[in-house]
Amino acid sequence: MKRIVHVVVIGAATLLTASALRAQFAVPPEWAYGAGPAAPAGAAPVAPPAAAAPAPAPDTSLKQVPGSAQSFTLAQVRNAFGPADWFPGDHPVMPAVVAKGKSPDARACSLCHYPNGKGRAENAGVAGLPAAYFLQQLNDFRHDLRKSAEPRKANTNIMIGIAKALTEDEMQQAAEYFGAMKWTPWVRVVETTTVPKTRLAGGLFIPLDGAATEPIGMRIIEVPENVEQTEVLRNPRSGFVAYAPPGSIKKGEALVTTGGNGRTVACGVCHGADLKGIGPVPGLAGRSPSYLTRQMYDMQAGARHGQWAELMKPVVAKLTDADFVSIAAYVASRTP
Ligand code: HEC
Ligand code: HEC
Repeated sequence: MKRIVHVVVIGAATLLTASALRAQFAVPPEWAYGAGPAAPAGAAPVAPPAAAAPAPAPDTSLKQVPGSAQSFTLAQVRNAFGPADWFPGDHPVMPAVVAKGKSPDARACSLCHYPNGKGRAENAGVAGLPAAYFLQQLNDFRHDLRKSAEPRKANTNIMIGIAKALTEDEMQQAAEYFGAMKWTPWVRVVETTTVPKTRLAGGLFIPLDGAATEPIGMRIIEVPENVEQTEVLRNPRSGFVAYAPPGSIKKGEALVTTGGNGRTVACGVCHGADLKGIGPVPGLAGRSPSYLTRQMYDMQAGARHGQWAELMKPVVAKLTDADFVSIAAYVASRTP
């Protein structure tokens, strides 16, 4: 008995050391978090420009997107308490909290996660999540058990504020609404050595105008298929392309399906052989690789540590940045 306890304690200590070491050397991968460059230590605050140019007159024209009979102004598209719903036929009737939110603290879920729950790389796809899992996450946000390992990731902080403003009833309605829809693919994973140069817009990577490229390095660069449709019009039918390093999908497949000789744990046991989820365990197949990586990193760093996240600890404890890239590329490339 003494010996068993001893072995367990040594095992736990090794695990702890491994994660402590990792936390010490690694920083949240910028390609997955999109928090922007950190201000150098001791930098003076940037002074606002002395004479700002007069703001251009707001664009009040009506906009349209292909295949939709609706038209909206840009202000309507971005209305935090009732954003545009381009395709009302694509989803069930939205509960009030999803369509309009609740002023002042809970912006409408449909603003960021879209009315169809597809979400975007900088937030989360929530369609097709098991209702029990969805509620568990809202409660983890509420009780400060889930935050971002990158404190400058502003929209995760906003999500925490939203979760804290909801009633039990509103959480339940949102969970049932999004859970009733199936997850369908809209991220195309492409292996390549070069990627477009990008800029950040609210945590989302956007290709620069023109054809400038740079080496991909050990990153996944996930960008809208069509900048105008996603960035300006928030078209919930316009998806994403994720560039990944050559060979990453195959390496990821080995880790995900076998656990890579103890480097991680085969995912299918809990997430289902096809990675579509089992019972309350969420589906992963075909979801945003930036989002998936943020979550694995957050769990490794201990920033996401709700009750159920315990089960993910041995999965992520030893993973390196290169492993995250491979696993996320493979999982995102699976068709749900
Ligand atoms: C301002 C944008 C924004 C709004 C509005 C918003 N969310 Fe979120 N949501 C996020 C972000 C950002 C994340 C977490 C992304 C991360 O940390 O990587 C998230 C994550 C989630 C998750 C976890 C998903 C998962 O797979 O674990 C749930 C559930 C969720 N939101 C529900 C809601 C509900 C319900 C509403 C409306 C009441 C809502 N959100 C409104 C931005 C938003
Ligand atoms: C022992 C069971 C188990 C195994 C094995 C497992 N997971 Fe998980 N995973 C979970 C549970 C349970 C959750 C929900 C955690 C929570 O509620 O915070 C989860 C959550 C996740 C999430 C966050 C999903 C979201 O929507 O935010 C990701 C990403 C993930 N797992 C990836 C993986 C990958 C990749 C593997 C294999 C390399 C894997 N998991 C293996 C049980 C497991």
